[in-house]
Amino acid sequence: MIPLAKPYLSDQEITSVASVIRSGWITQGPKVAEFEKAFAQYVGANHAVAVSNCTSGLHLALMALGIKENDEVITVSHSYIATANSIRHCGAIPLFVDIESDTFNINPLKVEASISDKTKAILCVHQMGMPCDIGTLLKISEKHNLPLIEDAACAVGSQYYLNEKWEQIGKPHGDIAVFSFHPRKIITTGDGGMITTNSKSLFEKFQLLRQHSMSISDLIRHKEKSVIFESYNELGYNYRLTDIQAAIGLVQLDRLDDIVEKRRKLADLYKKFLNGVKGIQLPEERTNTRTNWQSYCVRFDDSLSVHQIMQQLLEVGISSRRGILCAHLEPAYEVEPWTWYGKEEGKQVDLKESENARNHCIILPLFPEMKVQEIKFVCDSLIKILSNN
Ligand SMILES: Cc1ncc(COP(=O)(O)O)c(C=O)c1O
Repeated sequence: MIPLAKPYLSDQEITSVASVIRSGWITQGPKVAEFEKAFAQYVGANHAVAVSNCTSGLHLALMALGIKENDEVITVSHSYIATANSIRHCGAIPLFVDIESDTFNINPLKVEASISDKTKAILCVHQMGMPCDIGTLLKISEKHNLPLIEDAACAVGSQYYLNEKWEQIGKPHGDIAVFSFHPRKIITTGDGGMITTNSKSLFEKFQLLRQHSMSISDLIRHKEKSVIFESYNELGYNYRLTDIQAAIGLVQLDRLDDIVEKRRKLADLYKKFLNGVKGIQLPEERTNTRTNWQSYCVRFDDSLSVHQIMQQLLEVGISSRRGILCAHLEPAYEVEPWTWYGKEEGKQVDLKESENARNHCIILPLFPEMKVQEIKFVCDSLIKILSNN
């Protein structure tokens, strides 16, 4: 069976975890601080704050910006459900706009058209690692004085060409970026997340909120020579990453460039073997973006059944997944806590590109240890299936 994804782990991660276990400090402590420092340096951000996962990080990002009940946050429906959920966790309303068909990312033109008095932030997603049109989104957020949050769950190691140089996603370009270290992402800590920002005040807020708003951390109290008491001055959360996870993360971060290079070579092979095949459209980078190919997502002609193609792949031992879901089509969004541009005027919801991408795409296997013969086998199998359809 060729799996869809496989984390790239080695004995180095095991050794690193063993040393943390032997140290006696296993929850958020010195390793988390080391991981944060290394991560901030890698992406070029002033600050990084480790959290339990990307969803909790997005929740903190929105809360720290003061997003509250009935505020609207512009985002995409076409994303993992966590993106929209993080807005609802604040009691706020996701205002969904459509995506661009080539990048699967938020359409900046639709963002601008959707802004109203109720809009309090923009939450863009670098979907499947493909950077979104940050340059245009930044101009819109500046013009309308709206904070920009980047859901960079999938995008560590992806780059954007800005100011005449390649910059890492997470620098961040908006106010805040949030990453995921779930095993299907580029680097993993089992579960885990990282927030990056250049704002000192946001950084300090994140540090407090992720640990119950404890005024003096356990690490500091542990090192003190005199007794000090902490206080809890506002409602906080337990969104900590552990030192055990950070020990894995540090090793993974060291291997990130190698992982991205491997993924990019494998994606090139998909392109080589599937180029020009009838009925299938391949993903493309724009000239100002470099993706980490977190997912290799192909689109089929409308007449083809995605379900049938996936079933036939499964029967020859190839795992695949449907394209990215649309939150507004999931049962949890059946009753509308979400909205869309034009609702007041009674216009039809226009999330056509999102729905098309959801219905006609599949994600093919891609992981650093994947062999050339395996890519060839996936492509040959797909070509055979398509020729019989
Ligand atoms: C775009 C996007 N946002 C958020 C998340 C949530 O990440 P986590 O599982 O770390 O909370 C994911 C995970 O798949 C994702 O793909």
